[in-house]
Amino acid sequence: MTITDEQRDALIAAACEIRRYAYAPYSNYKVGAAVLAENGQVFTGVNVENAVYGLTICAERTAVFNAVSAGQQRILAVAVCTENVGSPCGACRQVLVEFGGDIPVWMTNPQGKTLQSTTYTLLPDHFSKEYLDL
Ligand code: THU
Repeated sequence: MTITDEQRDALIAAACEIRRYAYAPYSNYKVGAAVLAENGQVFTGVNVENAVYGLTICAERTAVFNAVSAGQQRILAVAVCTENVGSPCGACRQVLVEFGGDIPVWMTNPQGKTLQSTTYTLLPDHFSKEYLDL
């Protein structure tokens, strides 16, 4: 599905806007993410760290899980905002594929520098539910 320029810009703006709420006292690396759901709604998320470091959740998964928790199981695009145009981690790529298939990924920073990719480019030869049809 084609995402309009307006939808892309809104998604990027939402990711950079929500980033202010990131809870990252340990890494000091704040991340904001926004996903566009099939119903047109935008769901956002931030990274939430913990004193037990391994309990940290990334912004992308927070955003996707927010969408799923609101009944939206299909996402059409994602934007991620970090200070240095960071790319989604492997775990988040897998979750994005689960609910989006091959969708656009925009990586951006608050100054407006943006890189574009897709989930399948970022995670080729991924595991998927087809492998579970035994
Ligand atoms: N982080 C994300 O939120 N998304 C990613 O895709 C990469 C990493 C967070 C996790 C942690 O809070 C901080 O960035 C440093 O790894």
